[in-house]
Amino acid sequence: MKERMLFLEDIDKKDRNDGTEKLKRLRQIPPETGKFITLLAANCPDGEFIEIGTSAGYSSLWLTLALKPKGIKLKTFEILTEKTKIAKETFIIAGVSENIELIEGDFLEKHHDLKNISFCFLDCEKHLYEKCFDAISNKIVSGGLIVADNATNHYEFLKSMIQKAEKDERFDCLLVPIGKGEFLCRRK
Ligand SMILES: C[S@@+](CC[C@H](N)C(=O)[O-])C[C@H]1O[C@@H](n2cnc3c(N)ncnc32)[C@H](O)[C@@H]1O
Repeated sequence: MKERMLFLEDIDKKDRNDGTEKLKRLRQIPPETGKFITLLAANCPDGEFIEIGTSAGYSSLWLTLALKPKGIKLKTFEILTEKTKIAKETFIIAGVSENIELIEGDFLEKHHDLKNISFCFLDCEKHLYEKCFDAISNKIVSGGLIVADNATNHYEFLKSMIQKAEKDERFDCLLVPIGKGEFLCRRK
């Protein structure tokens, strides 16, 4: 797994510097965010563990470090076929295919069967965060978490979702300045 993580970190770094077009870039979280979401997921209650925005599967690998020892399967959603191909390869090489269900398609069309969500890592297109929040907020179990990435570097895009969550009495919220900013919403 470590080898595949380093391989993807190298591609991500190159993508950011060589003008690779947005749809092809991996746009991964940095390692410290990976460690942070893993620690959070390890302490969430029973329920479904999901990720919105798989890309090449880098953040999914981090999450399996928390979930695999507990026998929990991650459900991760990715809209682009090209990305799902790379993610499948990632999961095979890292030996975690059995621990991850990769769902291809638009999360907003695919989420209907989810219930009792314990943990959600939200990392898709920023203009979709609020719609994703609306789709899942009532399905989060007590003590469960939504963790939204890019809350500081894309604050303006996320502002309406952040302000909505902060006013929502079902949640306690906090913006944590790790990586690109992780916005945490914990269901009371
Ligand atoms: C920032 S990247 C995810 C990076 C990944 N979480 C990581 O750190 O390794 C965002 C991904 O979300 C996907 N995406 C965008 N909109 C989506 C949607 N509506 N449903 C599912 N995936 C979506 C994009 O194709 C892209 O691969």
